[in-house]
Amino acid sequence: MIGLPTFPDLASLASVVRTCERCGLHKGRTNAVPGEGSPTARVVFIGEGPGFHEDRLGRPFVGQAGQLLDELIQGIDMRRADVFIANVLKCRPPNNRDPLPDEAEACRPYLDQQLELINPDLIVLLGRHALNAFFPDARISRARGVARRQHGRVYLPVYHPAAALRQLRLRDILSQDFQMIPKLLADATEVEPDPPPPPDTQQLSFFG
Ligand code: URA
Repeated sequence: MIGLPTFPDLASLASVVRTCERCGLHKGRTNAVPGEGSPTARVVFIGEGPGFHEDRLGRPFVGQAGQLLDELIQGIDMRRADVFIANVLKCRPPNNRDPLPDEAEACRPYLDQQLELINPDLIVLLGRHALNAFFPDARISRARGVARRQHGRVYLPVYHPAAALRQLRLRDILSQDFQMIPKLLADATEVEPDPPPPPDTQQLSFFG
């Protein structure tokens, strides 16, 4: 697999994604979906890949699952413009089938560079494909709602919003898990306490 150049910013990365032919998915796309949001976002959300509406508009999470994601983000007093939203795959798989390993591998350097450029405090993994892109052996039903660290980054796996649209019982779990986001961000900014004062030399002076 041919490597990618190092991109100076998200915009130049996005323009290369839009004409990318690193895997077969480019043949069926209307638009690639590089991702969008704040370049200084403290939280990056990672989904699976574009669906029908995302492919049409070239924007992530603009269909029904996107509407739920917007509601969940607003529910924690954040706005979509505050965060960054990306996907494991930048192009829609035919009939929304699961990503193939070689497609995810071909697309991966884009996601890694997006994370490098944004350097978020928290990465929210939406669903099992995003989870397994970072933690190949983890299962979403066990991993969800538990923050984990890897190579200096903090990840929060949660159910995919589309799964919560299909199974109503997952919806409450998903909203609960979203409540962890502000807490994890607060932890990330927690200031180290002052170091203890040096021992009082006068009090130690009885040793001579
Ligand atoms: N589902 C995803 O995983 N990503 C999108 O962008 C839209 C729906």
